Amino acid sequence: MIGRLNHVAIAVPDLDAAAAQYRDMLGANVGPAQDEPDHGVTVVFIDLPNTRIELLAPLGAASPIRGFLDKNPSGGIHHVCYEVDDILAARDRLQAQGARVLGDGEPKIGAHRKPVLFLHPKDFNGTLIELEQV
Ligand code: CO
Repeated sequence: MIGRLNHVAIAVPDLDAAAAQYRDMLGANVGPAQDEPDHGVTVVFIDLPNTRIELLAPLGAASPIRGFLDKNPSGGIHHVCYEVDDILAARDRLQAQGARVLGDGEPKIGAHRKPVLFLHPKDFNGTLIELEQV
């Protein structure tokens, strides 16, 4: 059911510093910062030949990644995103097998203007999984 690894997301305490590090130290192709108010984050995408890295920094007081950064002050891997062809079919299949979908279970529009859902990390070996319909 899942397809390509769309991106790995890394929560960072300083988005400008992290973007500069990827651009200048690692020599990566770093995109512009985009605010995602619906998700409470500012993101920077880094294009790699086979996937992307999504740097995430909190946006607003209620950002869902604030707690993560409180526990991991130097940042850390926050989630992985897998592509699916049909997000509602994927959701229904997962829920039928007991997996928990975060929020109200309805897809939201993600950073790539595509529908996304998140799966509970406790159901997946401690890994927060994002599904994105492509
Ligand atoms: Co993501």
